[in-house]
Amino acid sequence: MVDLCGVQLRGPVLNGSGTYDPIAARRTFGDELLERFPFDCFVSKTITLAPRQGNPPPRLWETPAGLINSIGLPNKGLEGFLAEDLPKLAELPAPLCVSVMGFDHEELRRLVTEVGAREEVALIELNFSCPNVETGLIMGADPSETASAVSALRPLTTKPLIVKLTPNATDPAAVAKAAEGAGADGLSLINTLKGMALHPRTRQPWLGGTTGGVSGPAVRAVALEQVHSVSRAVRIPTIGMGGIASGRDAADFLSAGATCIAVGTESFRDPTAGARIAAELELVSRKEREFSSGGVR
Ligand SMILES: Cc1cc2nc3c(=O)[nH]c(=O)nc-3n(C[C@H](O)[C@H](O)[C@H](O)COP(=O)(O)O)c2cc1C
Repeated sequence: MVDLCGVQLRGPVLNGSGTYDPIAARRTFGDELLERFPFDCFVSKTITLAPRQGNPPPRLWETPAGLINSIGLPNKGLEGFLAEDLPKLAELPAPLCVSVMGFDHEELRRLVTEVGAREEVALIELNFSCPNVETGLIMGADPSETASAVSALRPLTTKPLIVKLTPNATDPAAVAKAAEGAGADGLSLINTLKGMALHPRTRQPWLGGTTGGVSGPAVRAVALEQVHSVSRAVRIPTIGMGGIASGRDAADFLSAGATCIAVGTESFRDPTAGARIAAELELVSRKEREFSSGGVR
């Protein structure tokens, strides 16, 4: 068992928000999905207060060893999520973490209050990779923006609050410390790195949203460093992600200080990646234990 902010998980493998749709997967695989659910805690796609269409297509570009996405957070909005998706996500055989994003403190307050009031929800993840429309600053890129948002939200719910950090910050460890000081219970990192691609013929931006977020093995070394420096800077647990594609990768993030790990882009290549990585991680850990106790030569 793994303790994540007071929530007991079967193991340490989560999904990265927005990279696995269990409602669509259940439509395809039926109840078999529930018997072999690949994650120990499910993190929802980020929801916003109002419904969003997302960015115009194209929304994806493949890079060497990675992906640039410019999805733009399409979602049903808070009401649609609570009425339609939450009852289905509550049937999953794993605790549920709901990811929320607000464009100002009032939106965030409503999201956290209403999501936090639902007993189906075990944890709340605050996706701070967006501008605060009141200040123009990216909430998670600036320590004081982060601290002011977390302190406004902390009294509104008893549910653990996990702050998802953006790697597009000058000093993610300083943001992490500010979040911890303001009452965050955990941190998750990394979100995607800002990137872009040009259309090979027109030389214009390929993605409908002009820029996008880079993920996958291409960002793993950056993610590992950030997980390492953030985990050393705080006492609260961290969830490490960014390009994890094998049990060995997962073991690296745990050794760098993460309490749990999350699988994102790899689930697009292999929808059962979460379960495979958990099994590989078990094997890697067992071999390391045997090696350190002198059992294997
Ligand atoms: C297609 C796609 C959609 C994503 N949507 C979200 C999202 O809604 N909220 C969020 O916090 N992160 C989102 N992410 C970021 C992932 O959760 C994760 O932080 C990032 O991709 C790094 O992990 P990975 O390299 O294993 O994918 C998305 C990533 C991808 C590739």
